[in-house]
Amino acid sequence: ASTETVAQTDDGIRRRDFLDIAAIGAAGVGGVFIVYPLVSQMAPSKDVLAASSTEVDVSSIEPGQAIKAVFRKQPLFVKRLTDAEIAAANATATGSLRDPQSLEDRTKEGHRDILVTMGVCTHLGCVPLGAAEGEVKGEYGGYFCPCHGSHYDTAGRIRKGPAPTNLEVPEYEFTSDTVIQVG
Ligand code: FES
Repeated sequence: ASTETVAQTDDGIRRRDFLDIAAIGAAGVGGVFIVYPLVSQMAPSKDVLAASSTEVDVSSIEPGQAIKAVFRKQPLFVKRLTDAEIAAANATATGSLRDPQSLEDRTKEGHRDILVTMGVCTHLGCVPLGAAEGEVKGEYGGYFCPCHGSHYDTAGRIRKGPAPTNLEVPEYEFTSDTVIQVG
């Protein structure tokens, strides 16, 4: 009689294990279906992101100064270059650069002194220094990323350090002589 009891208990345990596993499996699968719609509702759709744009009035930016704005929830730097900064950018042989772009490639005709870049280091996404008054600009006079030491020149091009590419120039246009619309 005692042997029979053990056998029944064993069978009972195996059954419960199986039921537990089945229940966890069902919860897991259900979880995917329940969580996915919530996540997709929270994240802005691509259409919403594409539609968002930022206007910046550049008239108050003095030569050598930059202002920080926000574009698509990320820092945006808008700088008015001095003649010396323009000359420094143009004195560099574009072909020698890691990410070969001229100042002309990165600015608009008639507004070569206005440099619009994302304030996001292309290495791992830190915000470079140099846009605010008194911040270190790095060895090439533009922006400096303190996270791992990337140096960007006066045209926002990568010159030294681990960042692979220049600071991104977002899509933008001048809607008047003094106002740019980014995005
Ligand atoms: Fe800028 Fe690494 S994130 S150098």
